[in-house]
Amino acid sequence: MAKITAAITAVGKYVPEYVLTNKELETFVDTNDEWITSRTGIKERRILKGEGLGTSFMAIKAAEELLQKSNAKASEIDLVIVATATPDLPVASTAAYVASEIGAVNAFAYDLQAACSSFLYGMSTAASYIESGRYKKVLLIGADKMSSIIDYKDRATCIIFGDGAGAALFEPNNEGLGLQDEFLRSDGIGRDFLRIEAGGSIMPPTLETVQQKKHFVYQEGRTVFKYAVSNMADVAEKMLTRNNLKEEDIQWLVAHQANKRIIEATANRVGVSSEKVMMNIHKYGNTTSATLPLLLADYESQLKKGDNLIFAAFGGGFTWGAAYLKWAYNS
Ligand code: UT7
Repeated sequence: MAKITAAITAVGKYVPEYVLTNKELETFVDTNDEWITSRTGIKERRILKGEGLGTSFMAIKAAEELLQKSNAKASEIDLVIVATATPDLPVASTAAYVASEIGAVNAFAYDLQAACSSFLYGMSTAASYIESGRYKKVLLIGADKMSSIIDYKDRATCIIFGDGAGAALFEPNNEGLGLQDEFLRSDGIGRDFLRIEAGGSIMPPTLETVQQKKHFVYQEGRTVFKYAVSNMADVAEKMLTRNNLKEEDIQWLVAHQANKRIIEATANRVGVSSEKVMMNIHKYGNTTSATLPLLLADYESQLKKGDNLIFAAFGGGFTWGAAYLKWAYNS
C-alpha cells in the first residue's frame, strides 16, 4: 500500500488594513526609513486596530478565506491548530474559539507556541496526524498580533514586527506530494536573548512589572541575528543534502521573514537565486507565526503541482528548523 503523505490543499490569509510605514515610525522613535530598509528590508507593516480585537479575529478571517477557496467544508475539519505567540487570553485556547467561530463543529482544537517557528513546528504536527491516518483534515493557522506585545518607544523591536494571519489545510495525498522531510531543533540558551520577562509563571504581573515595561518583547538583536543566520542556513542546507536535491531541483525557498539579510544568507548557502526566494517582509515585517503561511498565500498563484519548496525558520527559545515539501496543486 502506498504511504500516505500530508499535502497542503488550500491556503488563506488576512492582514489588517492599517499600514504603519517607516515614516510614521520616525515620529515615535529615533529611527529612519533608510536605516530600517537597509538593515531589515522592511518598508511597512500592518497593525490590527479596534478595541477587543485579538489574534483570533485575524485567524478567523484567514480560515474563512481558505474555506471559500477550498472544496472542504468547515464541518469536515478534524483538528484546528492555531500557531501563535500572542493568544487572545493567557488561558483558554484561542484555537477552540476560532474553530467554533468558523463552524468547525466536529473538530478539536489547540494552540501551539514555538515563537517564530510555531508554523513550521505546526506543519510537522499537522502532517503527522495525516500520515498516521488518524485524521483527514487538519487546519493549521499561523496568527499573531505582535502589536499587542511591542513597546512603540523601543526602536530595537518596534520597527520589526507586524500583525497578520495565514492558514493552510493539510489532507492525505496518495501521489507522494506534500511534506517529505523535516529537521527541527531547539536550544534553551536562547531564552535570555529574545523574551517577554513578565506575565508568566516566573514573574507574574504586578504594578512594577507593568511600570518597568517587562510585558513587552525584549530582543538582543545582534546575538539573535548571529544564531539565526547560521542555524537557518545550516538546516536549509541539510534538507537539500540529505534529500539529494541540487539548486536546480528547488523551485522556492520559503523562509521566515525576520530580516531580509538573514533570508539572503540562507538563500546563498543553499545556492538558490533571488527569484526563487519568497519575500514579503517589505509589506508586513515580521509577523512571527504568520510569515510562512502569508508567503504561501501571496505566492499561491505562482506555485505549481510538484514544485519543491524548502521551508526554514528561526525564533525565540531558541527554536528553528527546516522542511521539504512538494506542492500539491495548481491554483
Ligand atoms: O523572528 C525571530 C528572530 N529574530 C530575528 O531573527 C531578528 C534578528 N536580528 C536582527 O534582525 C537585527 O539584529 C536587527 C534588525 C534587530 C538590528 O540590526 P543590526 O544590524 O543587528 O543592528 P544593531 O543592533 O547592531 O545596531 C547597529 C546600530 C547601533 O548603533 P551604534 O551602537 O552602532 O552607534 C544601534 O543603536 O544601529 C542602531 N540602531 C538603530 N538606528 C536607527 C538600532 N536600532 C535602530 C533603529 N534605527 N531602529
